Amino acid sequence: MSRRMYRSALVIGGIVAAAALVGSTAASAAPGRPGEPRYGAGADGAGDPYFPLAGNGGIDVLHYDLDLDYTPPAPAPAPLEGQLSGVATIELVATQDLDRFNLDLRGLTASSVVVGSKSMSFTQTGDELIITPRPKLKTGQSTTVTVAYGGTTTRPTDIEGALYGWVTTRDGAMVVSEPDGSSTWFPVSDHPTDKATYSFGITVPAGRTAVANGLLVGSETADGKTTWTWDAPDPMAAYLATATVGDFRLEQYTAANGTPIIDAIDSTRSANQVAALARTSDMISFFEERYGPYPFVSYGAIVDNDSVGYALETQTRSFFSGSAGESTVAHELAHQWMGNHVSPGRWADIWLNEGWATYSAWIWLEERGVSTAQARFQAVMNRPATSSTWNTVVADPGPLGLFGTPVYDRGAATLHALRVKVGDTAFFGIAQEWVARFGGGTATTADFIALAEEISGQDLASFFDVWVSQPPKPTVW
Ligand code: TRP
Ligand code: ZN
Repeated sequence: MSRRMYRSALVIGGIVAAAALVGSTAASAAPGRPGEPRYGAGADGAGDPYFPLAGNGGIDVLHYDLDLDYTPPAPAPAPLEGQLSGVATIELVATQDLDRFNLDLRGLTASSVVVGSKSMSFTQTGDELIITPRPKLKTGQSTTVTVAYGGTTTRPTDIEGALYGWVTTRDGAMVVSEPDGSSTWFPVSDHPTDKATYSFGITVPAGRTAVANGLLVGSETADGKTTWTWDAPDPMAAYLATATVGDFRLEQYTAANGTPIIDAIDSTRSANQVAALARTSDMISFFEERYGPYPFVSYGAIVDNDSVGYALETQTRSFFSGSAGESTVAHELAHQWMGNHVSPGRWADIWLNEGWATYSAWIWLEERGVSTAQARFQAVMNRPATSSTWNTVVADPGPLGLFGTPVYDRGAATLHALRVKVGDTAFFGIAQEWVARFGGGTATTADFIALAEEISGQDLASFFDVWVSQPPKPTVW
């Protein structure tokens, strides 16, 4: 069972074909005199062993402005295919002298690429859009890359076979891209280590609503089409971007801490299916007390009418397919601190996302008098030594294990065991310093261990060894 309630139970056998063996193209610098630019190609990936071609070397994206025009499928029995055309205006900085660099783009065709104000030649190979800027880019130089692109949208799947990315639905699209699905809807440096700010203009048939991250700037209708404009000024990992389209009504209010809340509720949802959203403001206050100030300009939920059982912590606007249960609402909200503000440095570090979010729901349910964190911990510990919870290296679960039960439950149990070991003051001190120190960027398991030792003053090497580096069920720690 993978992804618990957050993702439908899909157990796909098999292995990833030599994923860790596929190297990224190293930057090949041409010889030059000292001080002269040494132009070469940016790497075709960010260097993450789980997804070697995700992200790109040689560039640091600062901002994506995504201008999308989307036509959802015709009514059944027409195929579940939409038409997407986009113009992505990407501000980036060269981090090495570049005569070539890549962006990730999957299943869509680029029709023009402009760097600065000049049209450039480009090619598409596999999921890579390869751009040869002229003049070449020097280290530290910033420029704007404008890509016009488009194509037919379908229902892409990740390496587990689970739907993700720009998932075409009858009424629009559910756009949920973790871990590497953003390239199914825009040209992107698709790795959490390259966070950027975003703005969106999404044009859809009048009557449909397009929901993205951040704040709603406005909507304008002309000639039977509505353009929805959103602004997301907080640095964001690409997998957390969304531009979900459907038959939504927007509900706006202000949380107790002053954060503007924008919920998007599919017209078919019952009051029951969204009842737990009424606790959002209280939950924000609860997690602020423990993790520090809510880190973003806004929050809210998208509750769609798809039956796949998904929830994703899309930044500032958590996504729920079907219904939003209380524990899941707490889980996705907690991700805003744990996963979104502080994001994994490598996908292998995913337990820091899912362990924290799962643990956060445990402590919220304790606050509500439903069950204690200690009881939830005990329930995990009651699993027999033969359970999959105890055959996984949680801090390196492999690309097919990213969203498996051990990452969630053993990750949360690890945090509870840490809390008991170091005490509440140190534990929540670690949580707050984690968010304060690494917020806006990424951090790794090694960073977490070092911080836990720093704040607690304890040597935690063997604690973390048995909990996250060794598969067997911990007995002493
Ligand atoms: N991060 C999600 C959660 O636990 C699970 C998830 C991973 C997901 N990849 C996804 C959900 C893709 C939807 C689509 O909250
Ligand atoms: Zn999660």
